[in-house]
Amino acid sequence: MLNLDLNKLAPHVTAEALQGMSEELSAAHAKLYDPTAPGSDFTGWVRLPENYDKEEFARIQKAAAKIRQDSDVLVVVGIGGSYLGARAALEVFPSDGPEICFVGCSLSPNEIQSVQKKVAGKNWSINVISKSGGTTEPAIAFRIFRDMLVAQYGQQANSRIYATTDKARGALKTIADRNGWESFVIPDNVGGRFSVLTAVGLLPIAVGGTDIEALMAGAADAMNRYDLRSMENPVWQYVAARNLLYRQGKTVEIYCNYEPSYTFVGEWLKQLFGESEGKDGKGIFPASAQFTTDLHSLGQYIQDGERILMETVLYVDDTGCDVTLPSSEDDGDNLNYLAGKPLSFVREMAFQGTLDAHHDGGVPAMVLRMPHMDARTLGELFYFFELSCGISGHVLGVNPFNQPGVEAYKKNMFALLGRP
Ligand code: PA5
Repeated sequence: MLNLDLNKLAPHVTAEALQGMSEELSAAHAKLYDPTAPGSDFTGWVRLPENYDKEEFARIQKAAAKIRQDSDVLVVVGIGGSYLGARAALEVFPSDGPEICFVGCSLSPNEIQSVQKKVAGKNWSINVISKSGGTTEPAIAFRIFRDMLVAQYGQQANSRIYATTDKARGALKTIADRNGWESFVIPDNVGGRFSVLTAVGLLPIAVGGTDIEALMAGAADAMNRYDLRSMENPVWQYVAARNLLYRQGKTVEIYCNYEPSYTFVGEWLKQLFGESEGKDGKGIFPASAQFTTDLHSLGQYIQDGERILMETVLYVDDTGCDVTLPSSEDDGDNLNYLAGKPLSFVREMAFQGTLDAHHDGGVPAMVLRMPHMDARTLGELFYFFELSCGISGHVLGVNPFNQPGVEAYKKNMFALLGRP
């Protein structure tokens, strides 16, 4: 179970100030169930951990088992919400089966070429993921890899392509039906960045060997626990704290972690909050940092730069392994005072020391501690932040579920490309 620690918020946010947000929180939370609220068409994720399609879930597990059995590599094609959740989970829990490669999340020829080299001479499959079915980056990557798959397998390629897309609309749905590819549905009422617990995330995660039932069970626990309509609810506390800080000029939230494998959880969070809140001239800018690595690059700014920062620290207590520091006869590096200590102890001290230093330097912090690194906890974490984001967007007074600003670059790019 996640544990939210708000001890490093004073003097910026007091217990009374948090309590004072309760009416706003109550109204914002209720909007997620209000069919007249902005974005109400895209709140299918709120009850998803209990409402998900069980028949499709079984098909996902079956498809994952087949891919694990007949493929050395799975090429996952997608971008944004059709990419980051699965990538985040697969960085935390690396595949114990096929190698999983991501393409279509950039326009880099190098990236394409490196994955082309990985599949050469191997058995492989493709999971193409796009809700709209027409996003440029994944469409281009899919064209390239589908071409390679057909060159290798001929007609049999069709049994190695898995399409995750809209149930009825879009170019991808049309070609999937035409070619008989196994298809999975991104529900109409679940937007890309809230879709990690649909087939979008579940199929690649299951291919990697992670228990997706446990992932969904963790999310379902979170759904029930965080539905509490009071300031006892850690989601309410987190949302209240970050909005109070924002109103005081803390306009940047850094999602920090102490595990390199959580870097992509930070990327997922950046999309979730950035696309949901950054609109109408408002929004907390989401950033991410990986400690202690970035203490040697961003640390100076965080400690001493513009005082516009708040931190949300994701800290895993038990990462499932540890290393003991050996003693050395000559103690040339002066580290014998740590001999016999586990590395996790050093990390914990670095975490505590950093938290205090940043707090003393005027950077308030919220700490989300995770007892373990397991699928259930990750499911809880995903849901915790999705719910926080939905409620927080309404507190901010924006529609958290649209993304009108994403279109601007596409319009220019298509004009320059001469798209008919
Ligand atoms: O959250 C979102 O809606 C976006 O980030 C999309 O997921 C992203 O643009 C990819 O879109 P699509 O799944 O339609 O290819």
